[in-house]
Amino acid sequence: MTQATRGVLVAGATGFIGRGVMHELLAGKNRMTVWTRRPETARRLWGDRVGLVTRLEEIPADWAIEGVINLAGQPTVGAPWTRSYRDQLVKSRVDATRALTTWMAGRAVPPQVLVNASAVGFYGDRGEENLTEESPPGQGFLAELCLAWEEAARSVPPGTRLCITRFGLVLGRDGGVWQPFLRSARLGLGAVLGEGRQWMPWVHRADVAGVILRALDTPSLQGPINVVAPGALRQREFMTLLARRLHRPLWMKTPAFLLRLLPGEMGSLFLDSQHVLPQKARDHGYDFRYSELSDALEELLGRL
Ligand SMILES: NC(=O)c1ccc[n+]([C@@H]2O[C@H](COP(=O)([O-])OP(=O)(O)OC[C@H]3O[C@@H](n4cnc5c(N)ncnc54)[C@H](OP(=O)(O)O)[C@@H]3O)[C@@H](O)[C@H]2O)c1
Repeated sequence: MTQATRGVLVAGATGFIGRGVMHELLAGKNRMTVWTRRPETARRLWGDRVGLVTRLEEIPADWAIEGVINLAGQPTVGAPWTRSYRDQLVKSRVDATRALTTWMAGRAVPPQVLVNASAVGFYGDRGEENLTEESPPGQGFLAELCLAWEEAARSVPPGTRLCITRFGLVLGRDGGVWQPFLRSARLGLGAVLGEGRQWMPWVHRADVAGVILRALDTPSLQGPINVVAPGALRQREFMTLLARRLHRPLWMKTPAFLLRLLPGEMGSLFLDSQHVLPQKARDHGYDFRYSELSDALEELLGRL
């Protein structure tokens, strides 16, 4: 795509990752359109710098849209995973994705690329296995959710390039898990979960935005892309480093059996082990701004 004339549509832009991506896109030469359920929030965030629609049909036929980024979905940690909440987690993602691909197919000139969110939950609980984009899916609810979500994205019109960004745990100052993590660690209440040996794929939000922009711009990049920092850590190592930076003790342990009591396999969010490698991003020359957790913590703790 030519940077100078790029029209980009974003769904889920008002969310934690979306705001970071929008910040980068608005800094470049992009004409932004946001598909949102909350136009007042979007207007407060970006004023008149973006076109806002609450229904895709509102997008005029003569607005050129070359790229689409889909981050929409009900929050995974918003509520206990009852059966109905799990249904909403799947439905919100699959429905939004299908609505986008259907709309794309109806355009006289379909967008050139769809960058669709997914998650490392795709791989399930994999112990010590090295997981690249070539690895098969795992088992459990999160894997099924990601499979359904990715399957919906595969219905892009022929000729539209599809990038599926499988995010690890995203760290950024103003959202996601970071503030709750920081609050508990500051109180000396950061905990090792289970044995803490599980691999915990993390990534800084700046790199999530970086990889998404790279995916928009790189015609040879397609299919699944693991969006995780190269400096993989186990959960215990992650908490130890954070506690050390804050000069706080790390003495709490949350037994695995307690986490497994959470409804609807929600404990898998904390206990699954995924040693995920960002192979494709690196093969395409993406240079992570925050490769190691120590560097990311400097930024997150405001010392950079
Ligand atoms: N944050 C992470 O660590 C992480 C890790 C792995 C994967 N992901 C995935 O990446 C995507 C973005 O994550 P995020 O942290 O930015 O999430 P977020 O802050 O919860 O934002 C998601 C956005 O999706 C839209 N949305 C919310 N509920 C919806 C529903 N029921 N139906 C349709 N749209 C809905 C909202 O946008 P509007 O109100 O503007 O419509 C919201 O701002 C999510 O799909 C998430 O599962 C995130």
